[in-house]
Order: sequence, then structure tokens, then C-alpha cells
Amino acid sequence: YKRVTVKSLIDMKNHGERISMLTAYDYSMAKIVDSAGVDVILVGDSASNVMAGHETTLPITLDQMIYHATSVVRAIDRALIVVDIPFGSYQADPKEALRSAIRIMKESGAHAIKVEGGAEIKDSIKRILKAGIPVMGHLGLTPQSIYKFGTYTVRAKEAEEAERLKEDAKLLERLGCFAIVLEKIPAALAKEVAESVSIPVIGIGAGGGVDGQVLVIHDLLGITHQFNPRFLRRYMNLYEEMGKAIGQYVSDVKERDFPNEQEQY
Ligand code: KIV
Ligand code: NA
Repeated sequence: YKRVTVKSLIDMKNHGERISMLTAYDYSMAKIVDSAGVDVILVGDSASNVMAGHETTLPITLDQMIYHATSVVRAIDRALIVVDIPFGSYQADPKEALRSAIRIMKESGAHAIKVEGGAEIKDSIKRILKAGIPVMGHLGLTPQSIYKFGTYTVRAKEAEEAERLKEDAKLLERLGCFAIVLEKIPAALAKEVAESVSIPVIGIGAGGGVDGQVLVIHDLLGITHQFNPRFLRRYMNLYEEMGKAIGQYVSDVKERDFPNEQEQY
């Protein structure tokens, strides 16, 4: 795929090719992520945590999400760019949801948006889709509702919540969403959902039976170091590596080792 589209993702599912997705929030990181061949870049509202230092994803604003998305769009040659529609910019009514989605698409140049929830936001999803904006769903642990759950533990372990999730996935497919993220639910349930819908299901903490995987880039690189859920595989320990490099720089400056003869004019 020279350029990944929502159609390519469905092709990948049909051919059994797993979909790789990662977050990015700025130009430099997005450039690396795109060049490395990641299929989908999510400008996640996890920017609220990893970029802005908030405890939850609730405080980030639509303007801030558009700023992050705009920076990412400038970096990309191949990946499909999906942007989280932030808390407070789509729940009031479908018109507000559509206005927010349009702002993201128009001002950033991204390719799709992602919303958290199922039946309860059905009318908003419909309205956005009717405007021709591709929508990715997000079920299971939905961080924008964290104060309703009270904890970040595994969702849908009980039959009732699992049934509701399955119905919501079917609903999102029927409405015309192009993919669904499933966060932190039992692997068996996630696999069942992935097999029950024709659109790609992308998991985070949802096991290997789904059509793709997503992680927060700061977690994969080990920039965040106090977040250790079971589902996270760290590919680097950048927190340590960067700390070492920066510590070396400080000591080089203090010791008058930097700059040396060759490093000046
Ligand atoms: O904001 C985010 O990073 C996300 C992914 C974890 C799916 O929504
Ligand atoms: Na998110």
C-alpha cells in the first residue's frame, strides 16, 4: 500500500494481514513512525497524558487536538491519520459532533476521526458519517468515561457488559464505521467480536485474535516508565537512554568539554 486508506484496512483484514497502528502527536515523531511503515497513525487524546501531563484524557481541547493533528499531517507520506475527537466536543448533540469533526478534517487535513462509545452516541456517529467523514469506533475501556468506571481495570468481564459490547460493535459496523478499537477486554471476547464484523478490529490489551494492534508510542519506546500494564511490550527504554545522554551533555558543559575546537567557528 503506497498510501493507506480506509479501504486498504478492510483489504488487510480480508487477506489476514495484521494492521499496525501507533500514536503520534508531533511532526518529528510522526515522520519516524510513518517512515518505519506503520499503517495507521492515531493522533490520540492520550496526548492529554503524555504530551500535556494531565492525569486523564478529559482536559484536552478540540483546538489542542487540531494543533497535534496538523503537525502530524505535515510529516506523513503513507499512513492513514485518525484523530480522536476529544471529550466535550461531541457529546452534547449530533450537530456539535459534526461541527467538531468538520473542524478536525478541515483544519488539520487528517483522514478520519475516532469516537468513544456505541449506542449512546449513535446519532452523532450517523451525522458525521453522512458528511463523508470516516469514523473509527472505540469500545471496551473508554478513557473519556473513566470517572464512570472509576478504574482502568479490564472491561467486559461480566456477561452483561460483554453482550452490550458485542451489540455495540455490530451497531458501529451497521452505521458504517470503517474500524473499531477494542481496549482492555478479555482476548476471547475481542476475537469473537473481530470474527463477527467485516470491518477491522484493532486491539490494545485485547489479545492476538483481532485484526490489528495499537500502542501509545511513548509506551512502546519506554519514554513513559511508570506505566506497566500487562499488555504493554516495551521495545526500548528511552527514559533511561535519554536521561544518560542528557546527563552526559550536562557534565560535558560543566567540564568545559563541550564545545571542543572542532565544534566552534
Ligand atoms: O488516545 C489513544 O492513544 C487511544 C489509543 C490507546 C487507542 O485512544
Ligand atoms: Na484516545
